[in-house]
Amino acid sequence: MTALAVRDEAGADPAFRADVLTGLAERQKAVPARWFYDDAGSRLFEDITRLPEYYPTRAETEILRARGGEFAALIGPGRAVVEFGSGSSLKTPLLLSAIAPSAYVPLDISGDFLRAAASDLAAKFPGLPVYPVEADFMREVALPREVEGLPKLGFFPGSTIGNMVPATATDLLRSMRETLGIGALLLIGMDLVKEPATLIAAYDDAAGVTAAFNRNLLHRINRELGGDIPVELFAHEARWNDDYARIEMHLVADGEFSFSVSGRRFTMRAGETIHTENSHKFTRRTSNMLLQAGGWEPRARWTDDAGQFALILAEAAPPRSAP
Ligand code: AVI
Repeated sequence: MTALAVRDEAGADPAFRADVLTGLAERQKAVPARWFYDDAGSRLFEDITRLPEYYPTRAETEILRARGGEFAALIGPGRAVVEFGSGSSLKTPLLLSAIAPSAYVPLDISGDFLRAAASDLAAKFPGLPVYPVEADFMREVALPREVEGLPKLGFFPGSTIGNMVPATATDLLRSMRETLGIGALLLIGMDLVKEPATLIAAYDDAAGVTAAFNRNLLHRINRELGGDIPVELFAHEARWNDDYARIEMHLVADGEFSFSVSGRRFTMRAGETIHTENSHKFTRRTSNMLLQAGGWEPRARWTDDAGQFALILAEAAPPRSAP
């Protein structure tokens, strides 16, 4: 990620270059999903959230709208809300209006997104202190001194946790616990296991927006890393991996061909894929198990009326050994 906008001699982010060159050299070619989100990719993701097939954003918003009274009762007023990510123009205000917090602290690696979202929020909630922090929240973050003595509520909507493999998700939950402290609460969105056909449609929409989002990664590699990938020879594919309960996005080669990136040559066989994203889906048990593994005790759980998506309230549990 481009926290401090590090660039190499060629003007590219060295972490992006390293991830792409390493990932394309593997047996199952792969590029980490976090590189989707350049300006074009972020705009395409916004479009995805409005697609008829992409239910997660609507389902989570429905829960936030419907359950404000229950959030207020369980969470209580006066908390510092620490959002992991810059905040969504729709979801964050719904939470903040429900619980009467005493401060809002958005954390994001991208300073531009962060400042835009923070000033938007400050305008909507005059009188609420907003302290944006530019940081990589995959590690423990030092919160602003102003919120030190306040009880905390972490907010991590969108089922972004589902884009991580379990080991990474557990590391993140542990870092959140370090950042927020024992006794803090966390409100986290998790998308649920359902009919594969519904899931596949959500990740392979009729208008082709998700396909454009997936292929944009190749355009980004060509532009930023001096590549000549023939983007039109890759097809978008969303597949359900039942063993890992996840949707996988792949880019499938339509024939055999070679291309180069940063002066390195790579060959695709016909039908070979570049794996670009995992989006894990949860059950009540797997979400509880993941939270516990990360040091969080589930306290309450809400789903939308159709039972597609869950918001879970968890508490940072004190360390304890068995059982
Ligand atoms: C950001 N993340 C939770 C989205 C998801 O559903 O996994 C990213 C996405 N990829 C394709 N469509 C949406």
